[in-house]
Amino acid sequence: MKGIILAAGKGTRLYPITLPVAKPLLPVYDKPLIYYSLATLMQAGIRDILIIVPPGEIGMFENLFGTGADLGIRIEYIEQFVPKGIADAFILGADFIGDDSVCLALGDNIFFGPGFRQKLRTIAKSLVSGAMIFGYYVSDPRSFGVVEFDKEGKAISIEEKPQNPKSNYIVPGLYFYDNQVVDIAAGIQPSARGELEITAVNNVYLEKGELLVTTLGQQYSWFDVGTADRLYNAASEIRAVQRSGKLIACLEEIAIRSHWISLDQLRETANKMKQTPYGQYLRGIVYDLEDEV
Ligand code: DAU
Repeated sequence: MKGIILAAGKGTRLYPITLPVAKPLLPVYDKPLIYYSLATLMQAGIRDILIIVPPGEIGMFENLFGTGADLGIRIEYIEQFVPKGIADAFILGADFIGDDSVCLALGDNIFFGPGFRQKLRTIAKSLVSGAMIFGYYVSDPRSFGVVEFDKEGKAISIEEKPQNPKSNYIVPGLYFYDNQVVDIAAGIQPSARGELEITAVNNVYLEKGELLVTTLGQQYSWFDVGTADRLYNAASEIRAVQRSGKLIACLEEIAIRSHWISLDQLRETANKMKQTPYGQYLRGIVYDLEDEV
């Protein structure tokens, strides 16, 4: 399975913060926002990743991740010149996806919680055909894709930003698709607001009877950090959770636990960052692993 991170939005709802800096590079407590989406894909076991970035910004993202080799993964970058909509990711990424299945992570969505890695790995491995998305309970679903369930818990409709939502379950920005998504995305028409909606793609799968909606319980945290308040709330919850001593979205930790990088590679990165709590956390992992050998 391939992975795509869509991170090309202008972040206009965060102006003036995002006037000089692309939104995915903004700090969310102790890491750039894009770390969280990359962590999600890596936790799903995905090592082949395309990052879709704003025009002229490839260099900034390359400064952060390079080719991905330090994380034991392979990263490609491509610009999106016009923000045509989320489903454009599959048009821009068609060559990258090739004949494979694909997981799309929105660059401004953050997920974490107990056992999330295992949940993602199971889904990524089990997706043979069709599509899988999540449903997540929120108190005000009106600014999201909203899924309606029948009495048996089967999804029966999905609406984008409805005035009168049919449920409180929104579809967060993490989507698993088989290879049909490339053709489906190429076939949909722009919505009334002029965008190639991801909800339109999901509705095609739904109509074919090939969409599985899994509810994501409240033990998991999910944030869409599209506004300053949500960015602040996400950072403060991450700070609180990390006080337990465990970091959220520590990319090198995911890489070493997946056996994608060597202890020497981890030691090198840890030494580069030894002045920060992030670097010290990495050094802690190095010491633990040295003790094990
Ligand atoms: O956060 C989950 C929600 O994301 C879903 O519930 C909705 O169904 C889905 O449409 C989407 O809604 P948003 O209004 O939050 O989408 P937004 O326009 O903010 O785009 C999400 C991210 O994708 C954002 O970081 C910018 C990036 N993006 C968006 C578009 C439309 C691009 O890189 N290119 C684009 O063309």
